Amino acid sequence: MNGFNEKDGILHADNVPLPQIAEAVGTPCYVYAESVIREQYERLAGAMTKALPSDRQPLLCYACKANSNIAVLSFLRSLGCGLEIVSEGELMRGLKAGFDADKIVSTGVGKQKNEIAACLDAGIHQFNVESLPELEMINTAATETGKTANVVFRLNPDVSGGGHDKISTGRKRDKFGMGVENVMKAFAMARDMDHVNALGLSMHIGSQVFTVESFKEAFEKLPALVHGLRESGHTISRLDIGGGFPIIYKDEKLLDLDSYADWVRDIILPLDTEIIMEPGRYLVGGSGVLLTEVLYVKETQDRSFLVVDAAMSDLIRPTLYEAWHSIDAVKNRSASPQTYDVVGPICESSDIFATQRSLPEMNQGDLAAIRTAGAYGFSMASTYNSRPLPAEVLVSGDKFSIIRKRQALEGVMDGETIPDWLK
Ligand code: LLP
Repeated sequence: MNGFNEKDGILHADNVPLPQIAEAVGTPCYVYAESVIREQYERLAGAMTKALPSDRQPLLCYACKANSNIAVLSFLRSLGCGLEIVSEGELMRGLKAGFDADKIVSTGVGKQKNEIAACLDAGIHQFNVESLPELEMINTAATETGKTANVVFRLNPDVSGGGHDKISTGRKRDKFGMGVENVMKAFAMARDMDHVNALGLSMHIGSQVFTVESFKEAFEKLPALVHGLRESGHTISRLDIGGGFPIIYKDEKLLDLDSYADWVRDIILPLDTEIIMEPGRYLVGGSGVLLTEVLYVKETQDRSFLVVDAAMSDLIRPTLYEAWHSIDAVKNRSASPQTYDVVGPICESSDIFATQRSLPEMNQGDLAAIRTAGAYGFSMASTYNSRPLPAEVLVSGDKFSIIRKRQALEGVMDGETIPDWLK
């Protein structure tokens, strides 16, 4: 079996029963199925193989902010991915997971000098530059270290994309990228810089872009700009078209990947550049569940609450974006349906995973799996309320391995000290 399915009345991850993992590791814990990551990678790479000639395949740089566990990274590397990073920490994770630096791209609006220097030292493929002062900073860091930085400039195409206002990045008012005028300026500035090679453009319009036609609208901004820049004598040999491809959380009707691949073939391919993509959620979102135990069934006049041991500190998406995640009972899956609010233990009303959700009747000690939690789950977890970070487990067929131990309670206070005058 691949992914999360019922066998003998019990929810499994591939061939491993989830109760077996809960018993061995405790809850809450994230459980990822390698098989789903592989399937998603093959779907994406396959759509590109079908649409584009073999010598023009894109470099798929996995956006590791989605799930940066080094075991997950190693697996994606073994499948053939490159990496998109946004910090020195992510660079370190990527190198630890064995990525070839020449397959790593660095993005983000606030790259710090030490991060830039670390990327130069590693010899990454390129920096996706988001502003003119950042370009100057990269040139300074490169000059000081005697290196040359390959850069592309991130175009803000003024296209609205993204499944929620907070994860749209391509509109004029967003902090990301540069308008056409500043992109032109950046190329002109780079021409006079000794330690910068300007090689192309990048864009990323948002995440969970379920109006996938927005990709087409954004891609269509590129040809005129590329031709204009080439006419002014600039090199455009790389186009990084970002990530953002959506997945199904509930019942979203999504255009298939083939249409996206066709737009890449029709609009991007004729521009005759290396093509880079930065998929995050698409590769890992469906591969994970957050496994949690029911602490109490609390009845009030108004509602039945399932108080579970996972909280918004473990998975913040429902709180932050009103995101909908399916919830499955792990056992007794055909018990009579009841309507519950599924909530965590944190002292905020916003610590809620689902409101008025129909689930098979559940009791204290039962396990539930919060689905589609493989992307932006653990990677956004915190220790709010001094809760330790949850464990992470990777499943491969019949076997599983703890890929991150549950944080020790002492670890929650790591680095804190009481000053002398309070002792
Ligand atoms: N490239 C860049 C420059 C990005 O900023 C992002 C995501 C990606 C690629 C990957 O996007 P994806 O393929 O995963 O959609 N925490 C939010 C999502 C934030 C996305 C941030 N940037 C969530 O839980 O929905």
